[in-house]
Amino acid sequence: MFSLIILIVLSILSYLFTDELIPKLKELFIKAGIYGIDLCKNSKDKIPEAIGVVSGCVFLVTSFLFIPIVFGRSLMDREHFPHNEFAELLAALLSICCMLLLGFADDVLDLRWRYKLILPTVASLPLLVVYYVNFNSTTFVVPIPLRQFFGLSVNIGFLYYVYMGMLAVFCTNAINILAGVNGLEVGQSVIIAMSIIVFNIIELQGDQYKAHSFSLHIMIPYLATTMALLKHNWYPSKVFVGDTFCYVSGMTFAVVVPQLFHIIPCPRHRLPKYSGETDLLQASKTLIDKKDLNPISELILRVFSFLHLIDKVEDEVSITINNMTLINLFLIKLGPMSELRLTVSLLMFQTVCTCVAFLIRYPMASYFYDTKL
Ligand code: UD1
Ligand code: MG
Repeated sequence: MFSLIILIVLSILSYLFTDELIPKLKELFIKAGIYGIDLCKNSKDKIPEAIGVVSGCVFLVTSFLFIPIVFGRSLMDREHFPHNEFAELLAALLSICCMLLLGFADDVLDLRWRYKLILPTVASLPLLVVYYVNFNSTTFVVPIPLRQFFGLSVNIGFLYYVYMGMLAVFCTNAINILAGVNGLEVGQSVIIAMSIIVFNIIELQGDQYKAHSFSLHIMIPYLATTMALLKHNWYPSKVFVGDTFCYVSGMTFAVVVPQLFHIIPCPRHRLPKYSGETDLLQASKTLIDKKDLNPISELILRVFSFLHLIDKVEDEVSITINNMTLINLFLIKLGPMSELRLTVSLLMFQTVCTCVAFLIRYPMASYFYDTKL
């Protein structure tokens, strides 16, 4: 409890520090050539990019400062020092640190998509090794409706590590893909972080007390520094957060569309199309030459259009579809709207999603599992 109070105080300080630091460093980024142009505005001002590296660094430093406070008392008694927990925390911070480096490299060098998939897997290795040594539990409890097929629990062995490695790729890229309108990357991360904190607090009384308190120690400073970033990234953005931020936020929300695997052509930017006259955003479109279609892409287009998930216009030689992202889906369903309204609508959708997750976890848990987990 004592360490939690110190953590909250430290986190408030880290919020104030990040908030001060961002405007001071803006010019430095522009001078170094790390800037972007806001594609949904008339103004062509240079906006500093990759500012996530500032909040990310303050977040890491806060977590480092916190180590002597949490483990300080244990240091007096070396024989009982909690090596396992210490290794877990260090591995977690190392993985986040790797992501910070990778994200910053991506912002500066514009990496290809294949590296965006490989590197998070490598970055998750330290955590996987610590998990292997400390727990090595690769069994999961089967939900009640599926027990007649699989039994009470299934041990998936090595596949569990493959799953955890893939989760890292999913988490980092999910946030990066739901991006491109002011405040969306950071806004969604704040909502996810708050949901996790609420979950941890509810579960603090349970028998998984240690895991939830561990999570809180990482999430609270993360939330504080991210809120400071949101203040500067909110519409109209004075800074862009860059892939650095998206990767550091290893939390998730995904729209994995077939476009990513180039089954359907995927342009460099899929963010909505801005109209300078009306100041509104509408869904951005991709033109596909019919010659480039193969049976799989045709089938996908047909299914998506049958489900009314895309707007499709066809002539003899080509097909025009909207880019297949959640942002564009909102725009084709709700019509053109301002950037601020779009961000707020998407963040409200995100809030509803986390509420549904809580509904499944608490009131509905008894349909799937017989004991309270
Ligand atoms: C991902 C998306 C891409 C989307 C981009 C927007 C996929 C496969 N990739 O690419 O479709 O267009 O994110 O971030 O889905 N920008 C704005 N307003 C904002 C934020 C960003 O105009 O609020 C623009 C700026 O020009 C900025 C650029 O997007 O410089 C950053 O793009 P970047 O993060 O490098 O794109 P990716 O992550 O590769
Ligand atoms: Mg990005």
